[in-house]
Amino acid sequence: MRLIFLAALLGAALASRVSYEGYKVLRFNPTESQLRLLEKYRNSPGFDFWKEPRKYGDNLDIMVSPDRQLPFLSFLKDNNITFKVINDNVQTSIDAEIRRQAVTPKTPRAVSFDQYYRHEEINSYLQELAEKYPDLVSVESLGVSYENREMLVIKISSGGGGHRPAVLVDGGIHAREWIAPAMALYIINQLVENNAANSDLTDSVDWFIVPVLNPDGYEYSHTTDRLWRKSRSPIITITGVCRGVDQNRNFDFHWMEIGASDYPCDEIYGGEEPLSEIENRNLRDFATLHKQHIKLYLTFHSYGEYLLYPWGYTSELPSDWETLHALAEEVDAAQVAAGGNPFTIGSSTNVLYAAAGGSDDYMKGVLGIELSYTVELTNTRYGFQLPASLIEPTVTQFFEGVRVFAKYVKENF
Ligand code: ARG
Ligand code: ZN
Repeated sequence: MRLIFLAALLGAALASRVSYEGYKVLRFNPTESQLRLLEKYRNSPGFDFWKEPRKYGDNLDIMVSPDRQLPFLSFLKDNNITFKVINDNVQTSIDAEIRRQAVTPKTPRAVSFDQYYRHEEINSYLQELAEKYPDLVSVESLGVSYENREMLVIKISSGGGGHRPAVLVDGGIHAREWIAPAMALYIINQLVENNAANSDLTDSVDWFIVPVLNPDGYEYSHTTDRLWRKSRSPIITITGVCRGVDQNRNFDFHWMEIGASDYPCDEIYGGEEPLSEIENRNLRDFATLHKQHIKLYLTFHSYGEYLLYPWGYTSELPSDWETLHALAEEVDAAQVAAGGNPFTIGSSTNVLYAAAGGSDDYMKGVLGIELSYTVELTNTRYGFQLPASLIEPTVTQFFEGVRVFAKYVKENF
């Protein structure tokens, strides 16, 4: 009886979803000239560049729709471009993920790191912490999202009246990158519920953590389109309505200069105007209010294993890039010692690709937050669909890096 009910529920949930039946993900290790050939496909319909390399030796992952596979395969053959199929049918992996999500029991009044949580569950966890640890934790709303979801920031402070150096952390600006909110949640969990072991991270540093910066997109990726990236605000075009702005192309610093699209239906659409997205304005307002104290900004993404610092809009480097680089190397060493793979370190433009309007550039370039990093967690063949069983190793390893970041803030500000 219960099983039938579950199956019916699952069926209903599956029915209204965007299907990726027959979509494949190919992984390349292209030479310079092969990369140039492949890049022509970036904005073609039926192609989604999941992960792009900048320097020789990095992987390129491309998802291809069924109807484009035959011509694409013959193009690859003609040009002697080799590849590995890392996902033979994206829908199969989405179904498997949905099944796992449905059977994992939700732990009441506590989090665990063997499952992905929905936005409401994350919000109620934050509220619970505020009630349970009133001396350490408070929760504030940044405002609501386009679809009226409450965007919460958790403030973790052991005292000091708001005068201590602070760290601002966010996750989930890109909806499908589920490990990012999980990472933010783990940092919260460790700083608050395991404070006895981590009190050195909170005794003279304050933390502001926003686990889900794009709640509408995040929920949409759970309910309807697993691979959704953008926000959900509608934009009217001549051919109809397209939804969503790439929130990481929408910040008001060299907006739209490079690596962003002005076509609303594109994955990297930068918006009608800078900060058109309410979610970004909410973060901007909060960060502006606290900018004097915020010394470090960390924004979590997936995937690729990169530790990126500004700038994303130019190949020129900030004047203090050596400090940014050296700190990233220390952070990396700590997470490697904990069992992680080494990350690629450098400025966004130089080691990944140029893209203006990112939150990292904004925090440093406009608000003057000295240390600003984008962290691209994990680089498995699973892409965005990191199995829930791999959340725990991923977040615990990188937490060792977070420790190094915090120690630096504590000792230098
Ligand atoms: N994968 C991230 C993105 O495309 C990288 C952002 C790096 N930062 C930047 N300002 N471009 O949004
Ligand atoms: Zn991202």
